[in-house]
Amino acid sequence: MVHLGPKKPPSRKGSLADVPRDLLEQISQLEKLFTVDTQKLKAIVAHFVSELEKGLSKEGGSIPMIPTWVMDLPTGTEKGAFLALDMGGTNLRVCEITLLGNRDFDIVQSKYHMPPDMKTGTSEQLWDYIADCLSAFLKAHHPNEESHEFHLGFTFSYPCSQTKINNGILQRWTKGFDIDGVEGKDVQPMLEAALQRKKVPIKVTALINDTTGTMVASNYTDPETQMGVIFGTGCNAAYFDYVKNIPKLEGLVDLDPETPIAINCEWGAFDNEHNILPRTAYDIQIDNDSPRPNQQAFEKIIAGLYLGEIQRLVILDLVNQGFIFEGQGVENLKEAYSLDASFLSQIEEDPFENLTEVEDLFQSKFGIQTTEPERKLIRRLAELIGTRAARLSACGVAAIAQKIGLKKCHVGADGSVFNKYPHFPERGAQALKEIFDWEGTLEENPIKVQPAEDGSGVGAALIAALTLKRIQNGGSVGMTADGERRYLKGLNL
Ligand code: GLC
Repeated sequence: MVHLGPKKPPSRKGSLADVPRDLLEQISQLEKLFTVDTQKLKAIVAHFVSELEKGLSKEGGSIPMIPTWVMDLPTGTEKGAFLALDMGGTNLRVCEITLLGNRDFDIVQSKYHMPPDMKTGTSEQLWDYIADCLSAFLKAHHPNEESHEFHLGFTFSYPCSQTKINNGILQRWTKGFDIDGVEGKDVQPMLEAALQRKKVPIKVTALINDTTGTMVASNYTDPETQMGVIFGTGCNAAYFDYVKNIPKLEGLVDLDPETPIAINCEWGAFDNEHNILPRTAYDIQIDNDSPRPNQQAFEKIIAGLYLGEIQRLVILDLVNQGFIFEGQGVENLKEAYSLDASFLSQIEEDPFENLTEVEDLFQSKFGIQTTEPERKLIRRLAELIGTRAARLSACGVAAIAQKIGLKKCHVGADGSVFNKYPHFPERGAQALKEIFDWEGTLEENPIKVQPAEDGSGVGAALIAALTLKRIQNGGSVGMTADGERRYLKGLNL
């Protein structure tokens, strides 16, 4: 069970008493800029619901709403050993998961550091590197088993169109990735070609999104889970909808309309048209300077990759206007993305009233000396940015719940922001309560967003297991051959 902590995040406003008037004025302007009130939350949810629908329609919309061909939930009796590969932003994780048939599992895993320049390197470098890591894992854990073919659940968490469970045509890179020659292509044959070149006996059985993995893995240990969400470097959600509610699948599949199918929403793209989200000048600058401007509007306001950058831009603006750090060199602060979300977390976590930990942080990282009032402003700013992110995130959860009529359920949540950013879960819970006008305490919220099971490990393995079972039973794992041909033709690849 999640610990929601105090009923309301503690307000530190009282401690601003000794802050001089000009800085107080700045704080109050920032509060106006970053606060999202209940009315606005409700308006965003209403628009979000219609955008989710649009994404499922034939015309489509900004939110991709990708059918993943995950059509089963685990029964808990799944058994067998599967490999899982998670291509996250900073690390590559390879796991072997043994499903024990009793809602339990064993896991052996290795982490491989992903060189930072690989995010913007070449496609060959990427796939060769991944194949090398998988090969190293097999050599360590399965020496002399070249004749055995291993089944892999590949967690590739970027928007990919899928015509079947084990492929994925990358629509566009997100989360700062920018590798040429992958967008518009199916990533599965690229990985399998690299595996063949290096003689690694692995087949991609399922290609999944981290959100789908999170939902399935959490449902495995807690059957009340009906949604999977990631609040990390990026931000996204998955849930189950029925084929009959997905007009864009019409004529492409041979499935009973009542079949449930997991949808990878890719909700990071919500409001790419910039109609409703309260974007500040800082958010706009981040978007303009990003490798993909006008994409991932929602994600750029709330995900971990951007929170530190928002804070950095505001601080720099205040420096440039002469409100803080007077007479000090701020060269180090000028480097884009030099503050990350963990920096913000540390600022919010400083337990001392005079914020000496914030003082040390700025001194050691940027060589900047701060006054106590400056630190109080910086802390309030971190609270505002973190709170806005949590409240807006809740809009996505509320929109899905509203769309499918969910009144009560658990939502499995993973990602560095959800797990490590102070007060994020309870701030989100508070927003959900306001959106739905729930009575009672946060602990009594009927929709509970709580820490998930390991989606890209256990979830990927479970989905691989479910896929094999489905194939053995003659079930479908994708579009019909003719549907696939027509769909791919429509993509104009
Ligand atoms: C980005 C990706 C999405 C992923 C999310 C969380 O939004 O596009 O696929 O689920 O980040 O990792």
